[in-house]
Amino acid sequence: TRAVTEIAGEFGSGKTQLCHQLAVMVQLPEERGGLEAKAIYIDTENTFRPERIMQIARARGLDPDQALRNIFYAAAHSSDHQMILAEQAKQLIRQHNAALLVVDSVIAHFRSEFPGRENLAERQQKLSKHVADLLRLADAYDIAVVITNQVMAHPDIFYGSPLKPAGGNVLAHGATYRIWIRKGKENVRIAKIFDSPYHPEGEASFRITAEGLADL
Ligand code: GTP
Ligand code: MG
Repeated sequence: TRAVTEIAGEFGSGKTQLCHQLAVMVQLPEERGGLEAKAIYIDTENTFRPERIMQIARARGLDPDQALRNIFYAAAHSSDHQMILAEQAKQLIRQHNAALLVVDSVIAHFRSEFPGRENLAERQQKLSKHVADLLRLADAYDIAVVITNQVMAHPDIFYGSPLKPAGGNVLAHGATYRIWIRKGKENVRIAKIFDSPYHPEGEASFRITAEGLADL
């Protein structure tokens, strides 16, 4: 908790699946790896699936309907709306026992509303404020904030990997922890912690299954 964790990855790498999993896991008792708390889920791409939450909850022995009720869901229609929802999350955190705030994806609206180089400075400024707001929220209320970010090809990079997380320095400096999910064979995914001042680079593999994410 008290951190903003960025989950970066390409399309279909499992970012949204991980967000669903976390929104269920936070509800588990502490001895089973949870915080016995609720989750707030800000969805910017309309990819939240209640049935998937219920499926994952059932697999963990939770009542599926209750698990769904323990997630405060909001769809963000624009970057402005997304920022307002983050502000309003304060009240939910105070009134209810919410220990996780998910923003999936943190950057999609910003990218579509501020296209091209001519809007980049303005976009980054606004995104920077949003990420700072989220970090303050994590700090003030001792909650975990998880944001997702797209990884995209930068065709202008000829040496090394052309893939980079979007958001540039704003996310590189704003996120406390950064995790990059790569696709392996079939449903296998490899999550790697990168850019961390506190951790050595490390990897963990998991599989996306009917019951949710499973360690390998
Ligand atoms: P973008 O948001 O498009 O960038 O992708 P993402 O990183 O959010 O990917 P997402 O989490 O949507 O992962 C998609 C992967 O999860 C695909 O490989 C799907 O097959 C798998 N997946 C999605 N829903 C389910 C499900 O209900 N059951 C199972 N077993 N797999 C699922
Ligand atoms: Mg997604």
